[in-house]
Amino acid sequence: MRVDGTPMRTIWPVAGRRVGIIDQTRLPHEFVTLELTTMEAAAHAIRAMLVRGAPLIGATAAYGVALAVTADPSDAALARAIEVLGATRPTAINLRWALDRARRRLAELPPGERADAAWALAAEVADEDVGINAAIGRHGLELVKRARKGDKPVNILTHCNAGWLATVDIGTATAPIYAAHDAGIPVHVWVDETRPRNQGAGLTAWELGRHGVPHTVIVDNVGGHLMQHGMVDLCIVGTDRTTASGDVANKIGTYLKALAAHDNGVPFYVALPSPTIDWTLDDGVKEIPIEQRDGGEVSLVPGRLADGTIASVRVTPEGSPVANYGFDVTPARLVTGLITERGVASASREGLLGLFPEKRGA
Ligand code: MRU
Repeated sequence: MRVDGTPMRTIWPVAGRRVGIIDQTRLPHEFVTLELTTMEAAAHAIRAMLVRGAPLIGATAAYGVALAVTADPSDAALARAIEVLGATRPTAINLRWALDRARRRLAELPPGERADAAWALAAEVADEDVGINAAIGRHGLELVKRARKGDKPVNILTHCNAGWLATVDIGTATAPIYAAHDAGIPVHVWVDETRPRNQGAGLTAWELGRHGVPHTVIVDNVGGHLMQHGMVDLCIVGTDRTTASGDVANKIGTYLKALAAHDNGVPFYVALPSPTIDWTLDDGVKEIPIEQRDGGEVSLVPGRLADGTIASVRVTPEGSPVANYGFDVTPARLVTGLITERGVASASREGLLGLFPEKRGA
Protein backbone atom coordinates (compact mmCIF):
# COMPACT_ATOMS: atom_id res chain seq x y z
CA MET A 1 0.00 0.00 0.00
CA ARG A 2 1.19 3.52 -0.70
CA VAL A 3 0.70 6.26 1.85
CA ASP A 4 1.35 9.71 0.39
CA GLY A 5 3.07 8.02 -2.54
CA THR A 6 5.46 5.95 -0.41
CA PRO A 7 5.13 2.15 -0.07
CA MET A 8 4.39 1.34 3.54
CA ARG A 9 3.73 -1.70 5.66
CA THR A 10 1.59 -1.64 8.81
CA ILE A 11 4.44 -2.80 11.07
CA TRP A 12 8.16 -2.28 10.66
CA PRO A 13 11.41 -2.56 12.63
CA VAL A 14 12.98 0.73 13.68
CA ALA A 15 16.72 1.18 14.22
CA GLY A 16 17.64 0.63 17.84
CA ARG A 17 15.43 -2.41 18.19
CA ARG A 18 12.06 -0.74 18.31
CA VAL A 19 8.92 -1.41 16.29
CA GLY A 20 6.84 1.05 14.28
CA ILE A 21 3.06 0.69 14.01
CA ILE A 22 0.06 2.73 12.88
CA ASP A 23 -2.32 3.60 15.71
CA GLN A 24 -5.49 2.30 14.06
CA THR A 25 -7.71 3.62 16.84
CA ARG A 26 -7.07 7.12 15.41
CA LEU A 27 -8.18 6.27 11.87
CA PRO A 28 -9.92 7.46 9.75
CA HIS A 29 -9.59 10.86 11.38
CA GLU A 30 -5.83 10.97 11.96
CA PHE A 31 -2.92 8.95 10.56
CA VAL A 32 -0.57 8.53 13.50
CA THR A 33 2.42 6.21 13.79
CA LEU A 34 4.12 5.30 17.02
CA GLU A 35 6.95 3.15 18.31
CA LEU A 36 6.77 0.12 20.56
CA THR A 37 9.79 -0.30 22.80
CA THR A 38 8.71 -3.06 25.17
CA MET A 39 6.89 -6.37 25.05
CA GLU A 40 4.23 -4.89 27.36
CA ALA A 41 3.62 -2.07 24.87
CA ALA A 42 3.19 -4.65 22.09
CA ALA A 43 0.70 -6.58 24.23
CA HIS A 44 -1.22 -3.37 24.95
CA ALA A 45 -1.27 -2.48 21.24
CA ILE A 46 -2.90 -5.82 20.44
CA ARG A 47 -5.32 -5.79 23.40
CA ALA A 48 -6.46 -2.20 22.86
CA MET A 49 -6.62 -2.75 19.09
CA LEU A 50 -4.08 -0.14 18.03
CA VAL A 51 -3.18 -3.03 15.75
CA ARG A 52 -5.79 -5.61 14.85
CA GLY A 53 -6.70 -8.15 12.20
CA ALA A 54 -5.52 -11.73 12.57
CA PRO A 55 -2.30 -11.60 10.47
CA LEU A 56 -1.16 -8.28 11.94
CA ILE A 57 -1.87 -9.56 15.46
CA GLY A 58 0.43 -12.51 14.68
CA ALA A 59 3.20 -10.28 13.31
CA THR A 60 2.93 -7.90 16.28
CA ALA A 61 3.22 -10.83 18.68
CA ALA A 62 6.39 -11.97 16.88
CA TYR A 63 7.87 -8.47 17.23
CA GLY A 64 6.69 -8.42 20.86
CA VAL A 65 8.78 -11.52 21.58
CA ALA A 66 11.75 -9.83 19.89
CA LEU A 67 11.35 -6.80 22.18
CA ALA A 68 11.10 -9.11 25.21
CA VAL A 69 14.24 -11.15 24.54
CA THR A 70 16.19 -8.03 23.62
CA ALA A 71 15.53 -6.74 27.12
CA ASP A 72 16.04 -10.10 28.81
CA PRO A 73 16.91 -13.28 26.89
CA SER A 74 16.39 -15.67 29.82
CA ASP A 75 14.08 -18.70 29.69
CA ALA A 76 11.79 -17.03 32.23
CA ALA A 77 11.45 -13.81 30.20
CA LEU A 78 10.73 -15.76 27.01
CA ALA A 79 8.05 -17.82 28.76
CA ARG A 80 6.49 -14.70 30.29
CA ALA A 81 6.40 -12.89 26.93
CA ILE A 82 4.64 -15.83 25.31
CA GLU A 83 2.14 -15.96 28.15
CA VAL A 84 1.41 -12.21 28.25
CA LEU A 85 1.16 -11.82 24.47
CA GLY A 86 -0.85 -15.03 24.16
CA ALA A 87 -3.50 -13.72 26.56
CA THR A 88 -4.23 -10.53 24.60
CA ARG A 89 -6.96 -11.71 22.20
CA PRO A 90 -8.54 -15.16 22.13
CA THR A 91 -10.06 -15.72 18.67
CA ALA A 92 -7.37 -14.98 16.06
CA ILE A 93 -5.28 -18.14 15.85
CA ASN A 94 -2.40 -16.31 14.13
CA LEU A 95 -1.42 -15.11 17.61
CA ARG A 96 -0.82 -18.62 18.90
CA TRP A 97 0.73 -19.66 15.57
CA ALA A 98 3.33 -16.87 15.79
CA LEU A 99 4.08 -17.49 19.47
CA ASP A 100 4.44 -21.27 19.01
CA ARG A 101 6.84 -20.60 16.17
CA ALA A 102 8.86 -18.20 18.32
CA ARG A 103 8.97 -20.70 21.18
CA ARG A 104 10.19 -23.51 18.91
CA ARG A 105 12.85 -21.34 17.28
CA LEU A 106 14.17 -19.53 20.36
CA ALA A 107 13.90 -22.02 23.24
CA GLU A 108 16.61 -24.25 21.79
CA LEU A 109 19.11 -21.37 21.39
CA PRO A 110 21.53 -20.17 24.07
CA PRO A 111 20.13 -16.94 25.58
CA GLY A 112 22.90 -14.85 24.02
CA GLU A 113 21.70 -15.75 20.52
CA ARG A 114 17.99 -15.22 21.10
CA ALA A 115 17.60 -11.50 20.35
CA ASP A 116 19.08 -11.67 16.83
CA ALA A 117 17.08 -14.81 16.08
CA ALA A 118 13.84 -13.26 17.35
CA TRP A 119 14.20 -10.14 15.18
CA ALA A 120 14.97 -12.35 12.18
CA LEU A 121 11.93 -14.50 12.94
CA ALA A 122 9.62 -11.47 13.23
CA ALA A 123 10.86 -10.17 9.88
CA GLU A 124 10.28 -13.63 8.41
CA VAL A 125 6.68 -13.74 9.74
CA ALA A 126 6.03 -10.27 8.28
CA ASP A 127 7.56 -11.07 4.89
CA GLU A 128 5.69 -14.36 4.67
CA ASP A 129 2.40 -12.57 5.32
CA VAL A 130 3.05 -10.24 2.39
CA GLY A 131 3.85 -13.15 0.08
CA ILE A 132 0.76 -15.08 1.19
CA ASN A 133 -1.52 -12.11 0.60
CA ALA A 134 -0.09 -11.43 -2.84
CA ALA A 135 -0.82 -15.06 -3.76
CA ILE A 136 -4.37 -14.80 -2.36
CA GLY A 137 -4.78 -11.76 -4.59
CA ARG A 138 -3.71 -13.71 -7.69
CA HIS A 139 -6.07 -16.62 -6.98
CA GLY A 140 -8.96 -14.36 -5.96
CA LEU A 141 -8.55 -12.25 -9.10
CA GLU A 142 -9.78 -15.19 -11.16
CA LEU A 143 -12.96 -15.33 -9.05
CA VAL A 144 -13.57 -11.62 -9.55
CA LYS A 145 -13.11 -12.06 -13.32
CA ARG A 146 -15.57 -14.96 -13.27
CA ALA A 147 -18.16 -12.90 -11.37
CA ARG A 148 -18.12 -10.11 -13.97
CA LYS A 149 -21.36 -9.65 -15.92
CA GLY A 150 -20.73 -7.96 -19.28
CA ASP A 151 -18.78 -4.76 -18.86
CA LYS A 152 -20.47 -3.75 -15.59
CA PRO A 153 -18.37 -3.25 -12.44
CA VAL A 154 -18.22 -6.30 -10.19
CA ASN A 155 -20.06 -5.54 -6.94
CA ILE A 156 -18.21 -7.12 -4.02
CA LEU A 157 -19.46 -7.04 -0.45
CA THR A 158 -16.97 -7.25 2.41
CA HIS A 159 -17.33 -7.19 6.18
CA CYS A 160 -15.05 -5.63 8.80
CA ASN A 161 -11.49 -4.85 7.69
CA ALA A 162 -9.54 -7.71 6.20
CA GLY A 163 -7.41 -5.24 4.29
CA TRP A 164 -3.95 -3.73 4.30
CA LEU A 165 -4.53 -2.52 7.86
CA ALA A 166 -5.39 -6.03 9.11
CA THR A 167 -2.23 -7.56 7.68
CA VAL A 168 1.38 -6.54 7.14
CA ASP A 169 0.53 -5.45 3.59
CA ILE A 170 -2.11 -5.88 0.86
CA GLY A 171 -4.79 -7.53 2.99
CA THR A 172 -6.53 -10.86 2.54
CA ALA A 173 -10.14 -10.15 1.49
CA THR A 174 -8.98 -6.95 -0.19
CA ALA A 175 -6.11 -8.64 -2.07
CA PRO A 176 -8.35 -9.85 -4.95
CA ILE A 177 -10.08 -6.45 -4.96
CA TYR A 178 -6.82 -4.53 -5.26
CA ALA A 179 -5.55 -7.04 -7.85
CA ALA A 180 -8.70 -6.59 -9.95
CA HIS A 181 -8.66 -2.80 -9.64
CA ASP A 182 -4.97 -2.67 -10.56
CA ALA A 183 -5.64 -4.94 -13.56
CA GLY A 184 -8.24 -2.49 -14.85
CA ILE A 185 -11.28 -4.62 -13.96
CA PRO A 186 -13.97 -2.26 -12.66
CA VAL A 187 -14.99 -3.17 -9.12
CA HIS A 188 -17.28 -1.52 -6.60
CA VAL A 189 -17.15 -2.56 -2.95
CA TRP A 190 -20.08 -2.56 -0.54
CA VAL A 191 -18.41 -1.89 2.82
CA ASP A 192 -20.32 -3.09 5.90
CA GLU A 193 -19.81 -0.50 8.64
CA THR A 194 -19.18 -3.36 11.15
CA ARG A 195 -20.47 -2.28 14.51
CA PRO A 196 -19.45 -1.89 17.22
CA ARG A 197 -15.94 -0.73 16.31
CA ASN A 198 -16.76 0.27 12.74
CA GLN A 199 -13.70 -1.31 11.14
CA GLY A 200 -15.54 -1.26 7.79
CA ALA A 201 -16.69 2.36 7.93
CA GLY A 202 -13.46 3.65 9.44
CA LEU A 203 -10.68 1.42 8.10
CA THR A 204 -11.80 -0.46 4.98
CA ALA A 205 -13.41 2.65 3.48
CA TRP A 206 -10.27 4.65 4.31
CA GLU A 207 -7.85 2.26 2.66
CA LEU A 208 -10.04 1.56 -0.38
CA GLY A 209 -10.36 5.31 -0.85
CA ARG A 210 -6.60 5.82 -0.69
CA HIS A 211 -6.14 3.11 -3.31
CA GLY A 212 -8.81 4.69 -5.54
CA VAL A 213 -11.22 1.75 -5.34
CA PRO A 214 -14.89 2.78 -5.77
CA HIS A 215 -16.87 1.83 -2.67
CA THR A 216 -20.00 2.60 -0.67
CA VAL A 217 -20.34 2.27 3.10
CA ILE A 218 -23.55 0.60 4.24
CA VAL A 219 -24.90 -0.13 7.69
CA ASP A 220 -24.62 -3.71 8.84
CA ASN A 221 -28.13 -4.82 7.98
CA VAL A 222 -28.21 -3.72 4.32
CA GLY A 223 -26.39 -6.66 2.70
CA GLY A 224 -29.40 -8.99 2.57
CA HIS A 225 -31.52 -6.36 0.82
CA LEU A 226 -28.80 -5.70 -1.76
CA MET A 227 -28.43 -9.40 -2.45
CA GLN A 228 -32.19 -9.82 -2.97
CA HIS A 229 -32.00 -7.12 -5.62
CA GLY A 230 -29.04 -8.54 -7.56
CA MET A 231 -26.72 -5.78 -6.37
CA VAL A 232 -23.97 -8.06 -5.01
CA ASP A 233 -22.03 -10.34 -7.38
CA LEU A 234 -19.65 -11.75 -4.82
CA CYS A 235 -18.87 -11.62 -1.09
CA ILE A 236 -15.26 -11.82 0.11
CA VAL A 237 -14.47 -11.70 3.82
CA GLY A 238 -11.47 -12.49 6.00
CA THR A 239 -11.16 -14.88 8.90
CA ASP A 240 -9.62 -15.01 12.37
CA ARG A 241 -9.65 -18.77 12.62
CA THR A 242 -10.83 -21.48 10.25
CA THR A 243 -11.15 -25.08 11.39
CA ALA A 244 -9.72 -28.05 9.53
CA SER A 245 -13.28 -28.75 8.35
CA GLY A 246 -13.72 -25.25 6.88
CA ASP A 247 -15.86 -23.52 9.55
CA VAL A 248 -14.94 -19.84 9.56
CA ALA A 249 -14.73 -17.48 12.55
CA ASN A 250 -14.76 -13.85 11.50
CA LYS A 251 -16.03 -10.51 12.79
CA ILE A 252 -19.51 -10.61 14.31
CA GLY A 253 -22.16 -10.41 11.59
CA THR A 254 -20.28 -12.45 9.00
CA TYR A 255 -22.59 -15.44 9.58
CA LEU A 256 -25.69 -13.38 8.77
CA LYS A 257 -24.11 -12.22 5.50
CA ALA A 258 -23.30 -15.81 4.61
CA LEU A 259 -26.92 -16.84 5.28
CA ALA A 260 -28.19 -14.05 3.06
CA ALA A 261 -25.69 -14.96 0.34
CA HIS A 262 -26.73 -18.60 0.50
CA ASP A 263 -30.42 -17.69 0.26
CA ASN A 264 -29.78 -15.51 -2.78
CA GLY A 265 -27.26 -17.66 -4.65
CA VAL A 266 -24.43 -15.13 -4.18
CA PRO A 267 -20.95 -16.72 -4.02
CA PHE A 268 -19.47 -16.31 -0.53
CA TYR A 269 -15.67 -16.61 -0.40
CA VAL A 270 -13.30 -16.43 2.55
CA ALA A 271 -9.72 -15.24 2.05
CA LEU A 272 -7.71 -17.63 4.20
CA PRO A 273 -3.95 -17.38 4.78
CA SER A 274 -2.69 -20.78 5.98
CA PRO A 275 -1.51 -19.48 9.41
CA THR A 276 -5.22 -18.81 10.11
CA ILE A 277 -6.14 -22.50 9.81
CA ASP A 278 -6.54 -24.24 13.17
CA TRP A 279 -5.80 -27.84 12.18
CA THR A 280 -6.63 -28.99 15.73
CA LEU A 281 -10.32 -28.02 15.54
CA ASP A 282 -13.24 -29.55 13.71
CA ASP A 283 -16.50 -27.95 14.90
CA GLY A 284 -16.08 -24.19 14.76
CA VAL A 285 -19.36 -23.27 16.44
CA LYS A 286 -18.61 -25.43 19.46
CA GLU A 287 -14.84 -25.12 19.65
CA ILE A 288 -13.64 -21.66 18.55
CA PRO A 289 -13.36 -19.26 21.52
CA ILE A 290 -15.35 -16.10 20.83
CA GLU A 291 -13.96 -12.88 22.25
CA GLN A 292 -16.31 -10.76 24.33
CA ARG A 293 -15.15 -7.19 24.70
CA ASP A 294 -16.02 -4.23 26.88
CA GLY A 295 -19.66 -3.13 26.63
CA GLY A 296 -18.48 0.46 26.28
CA GLU A 297 -17.70 -0.34 22.64
CA VAL A 298 -21.43 -0.87 22.07
CA SER A 299 -22.87 1.99 24.09
CA LEU A 300 -20.29 4.67 23.24
CA VAL A 301 -19.58 5.45 19.58
CA PRO A 302 -16.46 7.48 18.83
CA GLY A 303 -16.39 9.94 15.98
CA ARG A 304 -15.24 13.36 14.83
CA LEU A 305 -17.45 16.29 15.81
CA ALA A 306 -18.17 19.21 13.47
CA ASP A 307 -15.50 21.31 15.23
CA GLY A 308 -12.86 18.65 14.50
CA THR A 309 -12.53 17.21 17.99
CA ILE A 310 -12.76 13.44 18.41
CA ALA A 311 -15.26 12.33 21.03
CA SER A 312 -17.52 9.44 21.97
CA VAL A 313 -21.29 9.75 22.10
CA ARG A 314 -23.59 7.49 24.10
CA VAL A 315 -26.22 5.67 22.03
CA THR A 316 -27.80 3.48 24.74
CA PRO A 317 -29.70 4.51 27.87
CA GLU A 318 -27.51 4.82 30.97
CA GLY A 319 -27.82 1.53 32.82
CA SER A 320 -29.05 -0.66 29.93
CA PRO A 321 -26.98 -3.84 29.90
CA VAL A 322 -25.06 -4.47 26.67
CA ALA A 323 -23.34 -7.54 25.25
CA ASN A 324 -20.34 -7.32 22.94
CA TYR A 325 -19.54 -10.54 21.07
CA GLY A 326 -16.59 -9.90 18.77
CA PHE A 327 -16.87 -12.79 16.33
CA ASP A 328 -19.22 -15.45 15.00
CA VAL A 329 -18.74 -18.71 13.15
CA THR A 330 -19.98 -19.35 9.63
CA PRO A 331 -20.43 -23.09 9.07
CA ALA A 332 -18.52 -24.54 6.11
CA ARG A 333 -21.76 -25.41 4.29
CA LEU A 334 -22.41 -21.67 3.75
CA VAL A 335 -18.94 -20.98 2.32
CA THR A 336 -18.51 -21.26 -1.46
CA GLY A 337 -14.73 -21.51 -1.25
CA LEU A 338 -11.59 -20.69 0.69
CA ILE A 339 -9.03 -18.53 -1.13
CA THR A 340 -5.63 -19.60 0.18
CA GLU A 341 -2.11 -18.81 -0.98
CA ARG A 342 -2.03 -22.21 -2.69
CA GLY A 343 -5.30 -21.81 -4.56
CA VAL A 344 -9.04 -21.99 -3.94
CA ALA A 345 -10.33 -24.93 -1.88
CA SER A 346 -13.82 -26.10 -1.04
CA ALA A 347 -14.65 -25.36 2.60
CA SER A 348 -14.08 -28.91 3.79
CA ARG A 349 -11.38 -31.07 5.32
CA GLU A 350 -10.72 -32.74 1.96
CA GLY A 351 -10.63 -29.38 0.21
CA LEU A 352 -8.03 -28.00 2.62
CA LEU A 353 -5.99 -31.19 2.72
CA GLY A 354 -5.93 -31.18 -1.10
CA LEU A 355 -3.98 -27.91 -0.92
CA PHE A 356 -2.02 -28.71 2.26
CA PRO A 357 -1.28 -32.45 1.93
CA GLU A 358 1.53 -32.20 4.51
CA LYS A 359 -1.21 -31.81 7.16
CA ARG A 360 -2.69 -35.21 6.34
CA GLY A 361 -2.40 -37.36 9.45
CA ALA A 362 -0.70 -34.53 11.37
O1 MRU B 1 -11.48 -7.39 15.85
P1 MRU B 1 -10.61 -7.23 14.64
O2 MRU B 1 -10.68 -5.87 14.03
O3 MRU B 1 -9.21 -7.70 14.89
O4 MRU B 1 -11.26 -8.25 13.59
C1 MRU B 1 -10.72 -8.36 12.30
C2 MRU B 1 -11.44 -9.34 11.46
O5 MRU B 1 -12.44 -9.90 11.84
C3 MRU B 1 -10.83 -9.65 10.14
O6 MRU B 1 -11.82 -9.96 9.19
C4 MRU B 1 -9.91 -10.87 10.29
O7 MRU B 1 -9.00 -10.66 11.32
C5 MRU B 1 -9.18 -11.17 9.05
S1 MRU B 1 -7.91 -9.98 8.77
C6 MRU B 1 -7.12 -10.33 7.33
